[in-house]
Amino acid sequence: MCRQKFHISGETGWINDPNGLVFYKGKYHAFFQYYPHAAHWGPMHWGHAVSDDLIKWQYLPVALAPGGNGDKDGCFSGTAIVVGERLFLMYTGFNDYGGGVIRQVQCVAYSDDGVNFVKSTLNPVIDEKILPEDYDISDFRDPGVWRHGDDFYALIAARKTGENSRLLLFTSRDMLNWKFVSDSFEESRGAMFECPDFDENAGVLFYSEQFAPPAGNVNPNIHASSYRAAKLDYDTGRFVLGGGGTVDYGFDFYAPQSFSGTDENIYIAWQQMWDRNIPSAPFGWAGCMTLPRRFYIDGDKLVTEPVSLEKYYGEAAGCERENFDGEFKLDGDIYVLEIETENAKELKIEIKKSENYTTLIKIENGALVFDRSRSGETINGRETDNLSVQGIRTMPLDDPENLKIKIVCDRFSAEIFAEGKAMSSTVYNFEGDQFINISGKAARLKVKRYLLNL
Ligand code: FRU
Repeated sequence: MCRQKFHISGETGWINDPNGLVFYKGKYHAFFQYYPHAAHWGPMHWGHAVSDDLIKWQYLPVALAPGGNGDKDGCFSGTAIVVGERLFLMYTGFNDYGGGVIRQVQCVAYSDDGVNFVKSTLNPVIDEKILPEDYDISDFRDPGVWRHGDDFYALIAARKTGENSRLLLFTSRDMLNWKFVSDSFEESRGAMFECPDFDENAGVLFYSEQFAPPAGNVNPNIHASSYRAAKLDYDTGRFVLGGGGTVDYGFDFYAPQSFSGTDENIYIAWQQMWDRNIPSAPFGWAGCMTLPRRFYIDGDKLVTEPVSLEKYYGEAAGCERENFDGEFKLDGDIYVLEIETENAKELKIEIKKSENYTTLIKIENGALVFDRSRSGETINGRETDNLSVQGIRTMPLDDPENLKIKIVCDRFSAEIFAEGKAMSSTVYNFEGDQFINISGKAARLKVKRYLLNL
């Protein structure tokens, strides 16, 4: 009852960023930043879950724990890559010497069964000997690794001393011996890039950024996740960039990473945000992932769809009406809700509605508005703008008159998809008997709600 049903969480303890998303020996593997001993951030481990279908996950033993060469105080974020029969993890070793002296270096571990991992005796494989001296070793993290021809490449977030944040490119023939290639991307808006992920197959660069100022009403979260259409020019070591934007318009979204080891383009992100209270913590867990999402770039636009949940569709209910003018109610708290509207006027979609709480979704001023101001347990962040304080997020729409919306609800989250865009947020309503209420007017309204049998 007090856990998410089908979104990856730590079961107990704290999780943040997805790490090492990879398809290996017939299964999808998801690792994640994990502190198993309490529902707050602590010395970082890599938790591990596997799945056949990206929906049902089986939790495996912790893959990495801190305390080795180069990672004495934490195994921070990174990625995975399959090399022959072997699965390699590349991650940041976190070392805290006290008094603000921090050293972040890159380490490698590998496995031949996808369950038990051995850290390389050569760790750290990238440290201050390889980092050019005008970059700061205290902010140097989150290697995003991929293969191009016979070479491996790693994109690593760094800070140029006295300047802004950068993404640095390194290369290796064997995942162990690395050399610096270039300072490849510097378009930072905030304090520090984190978790860069270049999906060469899709032509997308994902990156997250601490303390990035909001761009208008879009993404007023204190830390932002963005994408750019991107190709890498291997001769210059610089990205050739197209347009970009925010990856997700909701409250709770950070550090998206795409899967390697498969031609499918699928990403998962942390469905949470730094600097917020997390109302599930008293129940022993904090943080969950988004649903895995398929994506591609159309021109400069990121198009996102959730992976299909159809095989778990259970009882269906809904309605289809011309000239809808009224109100109706459906039950459910773990479901997919599909809505098609034409010319909707004052349409209110209320989800997770219970005796005292409701979460409102409406179409207003050409945007989809998500309002969690009366959703349940209060969630406060560090944001001070009006929209955040009022519990509101908006997602701009291209064609609000003809809209198809898909809402995927787990026990404590709602992910809203429309026009290839996504808006993801947590909602902590601990009351029982939750339902859906739809009211207002529309020239046409079609609603389908599928309970999920998971
Ligand atoms: C991003 C991040 C990473 C770091 C990890 C630590 O959310 O701050 O930069 O590796 O979390 O848990």
